[in-house]
Amino acid sequence: MGNLNNIKDKIKIFRGSIGDKEVVRQALKDVDVILHNAAFLGVVNVVENPWKVFQVNAHDNHIFFEQVLNSPAKKLIFASSSEVYGEPLELSDKKRTGETDYIDYRVTAYGIAKKLAESACKVMYENYGIDTCSFRYFNAYGPHQLSSPYGFVAGIFLRNALENKPLTIFGDGHQTRAFTYVQDVCDANLLAINTKTKGDYFNIGTERETTMLELANLVKKISGKDISIIYEAARSYDSKRRCGDSEKARHVLGWTPRVELEEGLTKTWEWMQNNSKA
Ligand SMILES: NC(=O)c1ccc[n+]([C@@H]2O[C@H](COP(=O)([O-])OP(=O)(O)OC[C@H]3O[C@@H](n4cnc5c(N)ncnc54)[C@H](O)[C@@H]3O)[C@@H](O)[C@H]2O)c1
Repeated sequence: MGNLNNIKDKIKIFRGSIGDKEVVRQALKDVDVILHNAAFLGVVNVVENPWKVFQVNAHDNHIFFEQVLNSPAKKLIFASSSEVYGEPLELSDKKRTGETDYIDYRVTAYGIAKKLAESACKVMYENYGIDTCSFRYFNAYGPHQLSSPYGFVAGIFLRNALENKPLTIFGDGHQTRAFTYVQDVCDANLLAINTKTKGDYFNIGTERETTMLELANLVKKISGKDISIIYEAARSYDSKRRCGDSEKARHVLGWTPRVELEEGLTKTWEWMQNNSKA
């Protein structure tokens, strides 16, 4: 909630779960556009609690969707995830995951629930006339993100640097991710509000693949901290490679990620230094 302090006088806040029909009904009473980001998440959380994933991200989510259909909203943008791809088995060095390459191999409960919600969004467009889309985010990061140990590696590394703690890499550090700055994520949402998206899904991620080791070294460089990198055993649920082909978002939405990783990490680092208790 602290993240909303700057705008709290301009917005109306409803506190409650997406599974609480009455709260959701109230919250959606007068809206035109819904940016739906609520989810049970965090890499470790979702692996440790698969049934809670289904409870919140599938069951409660569908209670939310039902109320979307009862609301005056004309547009719904759903925060999906690159986790729907599971572990891509057949990606060559050149080929990145395209939206059509849905590979149902070692997908987590989180990925399955996101995929189910994407399908519901498609149905809402096809059968109920509300324009929807699903954004498959690839490692979004930036200021205001929570850096709990359950979650997001860029935030965790920066937080550790701030606290002079070592950076822990699981496995050999060659696994890749496509780190996408929060401003680029916002741009995609703003563009989609004004574009007919027809229930479709889009990769929202940079096409720059970065290894964990590169990320750790960048954090050391940007923070100027001489902290050590330590290696722990690879985690079975960590995907080896994650990078999307964002051609469809470019073509349909006119979206191009604009913030380079170095710039985004620097902005996040500066924010963290000024908000060290956040
Ligand atoms: N950050 C990423 O790299 C990333 C990647 C892929 C997908 N996503 C998706 O983007 C969305 C936003 O994620 P984020 O990174 O901003 O994380 P976040 O933790 O800041 O946002 C998730 C929000 O959902 C809320 N929430 C949890 N359970 C809820 C419930 N039952 N009812 C209502 N609210 C509930 C939490 O309080 C939190 O505010 C999520 O749907 C997430 O799955 C994020």
